[in-house]
Amino acid sequence: MIHLKGVKVCFNNVPLLKDITFSVSPGERISLLGPGGCGKTTILKMILGLLSPDEGSIELMGHNILTMTSDTERRKVLRRVGMAFQQGALFDFMTVRENLIFAMEHMTEFSKFEMDRRVKYFLDAVKIARTEHQYSFELSGGMQRRVGIVRALATDPAAAFFDEPTAGLDPVTSTIILNMIRDLAAKSEGQALVIATSNVEMAIRFAERVVIINEGRVVADGAWSKLLIEGPPWVQHFLGVRLIGLDEEYARELNLPKQFVERHWR
Ligand SMILES: Nc1ncnc2c1ncn2[C@@H]1O[C@H](COP(=O)(O)OP(=O)(O)O)[C@@H](O)[C@H]1O
Ligand SMILES: [Mg+2]
Repeated sequence: MIHLKGVKVCFNNVPLLKDITFSVSPGERISLLGPGGCGKTTILKMILGLLSPDEGSIELMGHNILTMTSDTERRKVLRRVGMAFQQGALFDFMTVRENLIFAMEHMTEFSKFEMDRRVKYFLDAVKIARTEHQYSFELSGGMQRRVGIVRALATDPAAAFFDEPTAGLDPVTSTIILNMIRDLAAKSEGQALVIATSNVEMAIRFAERVVIINEGRVVADGAWSKLLIEGPPWVQHFLGVRLIGLDEEYARELNLPKQFVERHWR
């Protein structure tokens, strides 16, 4: 579904990404995790063809996104992708409903009936059905975030990307949002889901597989529960320090490996 190989990017001659290689299979769910500024958003932009790397290759659904010369071809691939940017990126001058319809009109062949059904279904699923005819600027941050996520999934994409989907939200709302992404997507078979986040707790709540970026490289790629107890020292530390501060009750909810719990809560 997604392949990045030896991807390198410099800004003003300073390398930000030095060697990024990872793949995502159809139906797979991953968390792209790393400290703020490590290049997660940049990676998502490259996958969507919004930015070109200096070196390396990027494949999206079997197409080399970089060498694609025809705009029609590019559009055909990108139509099958959903994306929720960090800042909602909704149109202020449209209602919630119009925002969703606009995306579906541009990216799908759905009938008017199907679009209408989807608006109702998705807004209801994220419990904001009553906002349908409100303008996005009238909504709270958490609600805007939900609309952004719903818009990314309403087009039934083959792959969907969510950049910092929980940033700035309280822990309870954050968990609701993550579960929502998973539940909405679970109904669509083979859909690949990627979230980019600097929040360890959210990353491990969302997916078993984490791809961790630091200093321009993939420093770990695998099951977080394994990396937490037997990953390279930097990785263990990066994951661990964010989790040992949690109270035991809450930590138990995350199903942390026994070994880790025994080490830190006893
Ligand atoms: N177009 C650009 N020109 C110059 N610097 C950029 C550009 N895009 C991103 N950067 C820099 O690259 C760094 C990483 O950005 P980003 O991908 O947003 O990281 P993350 O999403 O992991 O926080 C930041 O320091 C940012 O200022
Ligand atoms: Mg970012």
